[in-house]
Amino acid sequence: MAETGRRILAIESSCDETAAAVVENGETVLSSVVASQLITHGKYGGVVPELASREHLRAIVPVVREALEIAGCTLASVDAIAVTVGPGLVGCLLVGLTYAKSLSFASGRPLIAVNHIEGHIHAVILEARRAATPVALPALALVVSGGHTHLFEVRENFIYRLLGKTRDDAAGEAFDKVARLLGYGYPGGPIIDSLAPHGDETAVKFTFAKMKSNALDFSFSGLKTAVLRWVEAQHIEEEIAARRAFGREHPQPSTEEWLALSPPRTLGLLASFQHAAITELLTRAAAAAESFGARALIVAGGVACNTGLRAAARRARLPYPVYFPSPGLSTDNAAMIAAAAFPKLERGEFAALDTGAHANLALA
Ligand code: KG4
Ligand code: ZN
Repeated sequence: MAETGRRILAIESSCDETAAAVVENGETVLSSVVASQLITHGKYGGVVPELASREHLRAIVPVVREALEIAGCTLASVDAIAVTVGPGLVGCLLVGLTYAKSLSFASGRPLIAVNHIEGHIHAVILEARRAATPVALPALALVVSGGHTHLFEVRENFIYRLLGKTRDDAAGEAFDKVARLLGYGYPGGPIIDSLAPHGDETAVKFTFAKMKSNALDFSFSGLKTAVLRWVEAQHIEEEIAARRAFGREHPQPSTEEWLALSPPRTLGLLASFQHAAITELLTRAAAAAESFGARALIVAGGVACNTGLRAAARRARLPYPVYFPSPGLSTDNAAMIAAAAFPKLERGEFAALDTGAHANLALA
């Protein structure tokens, strides 16, 4: 029988996706199952923590079973069980963690605790290794999602140093809030991304916050407030109400449907907002990379899906390679948790069965 590599079953439940995956040698994704709760939270315009925990409880057993089945594994044939222990919504984290602990206890396989942010970074490292273009270290990681906007130096042996973070909203949160303000659905990032190319990005000028103590920190609240002021000045309440009403009747409208409800000035606002957010991200990332001589830039997290951000990073012609995850590995998934757990498996870095979940767990 052919020898198999070391397999990790990973579980992720930090926010609104229940996910499980089996990954071999930190690199080969044998399965990656994601049960999204978009339909549940969409009608509330954001994640409702109590509903999210309940949905995780409903989904966790079938999602893990499916991940094992697709991978052709049983609990007995995996080498370890990895799980996200933070940061995230504590009620959500506890569902995944409790189940992972019980699987570990029942199977005798070690438990590995993973930081969600490290998972996002490892999604990119996994794909780069698989494509035989491994990420050179030290690298700069820009982690941009609904909950985080962080800059880390990634050193050998996956040692992290925090260089900057958002002072207020996360980048994805800013996309989501702006979309909601204008009557679009949730999550707003993909909607704004699909509409922005139809608008004039020079239509509305936004100014940038200067960071007093740390020039590598981000701020998105000023941008959000500027959008709010623009909306107030335009008197477009009816237009916004029409989109809200449409969104209530149609769970996930298509780009064409949103376009039909979006006049040019609104598309111009969206394009200008996206352009400003991307400029904020890339300017500070480039400065951070320069500060320690990064050999690569890793962009990770849900906002890494943004096509405008990808195009701008390409156009910037940075003096080091830039790595983005494929869309399936950008947003929350468990394959990235398994990938981050692999070096810990090799080092024998296991977690005790009384390990807790931490809503604000820091990576560095
Ligand atoms: O990583 P993720 O799935 O969950 C968190 O850990 O937060 O990121 C979700 C976030 C949401 O705020 C969503 O609006 C944003 O990522 N997002 C995008 C895009 N796709 C997802 N933001 C901008 N452009 C996109 N294409
Ligand atoms: Zn995430």
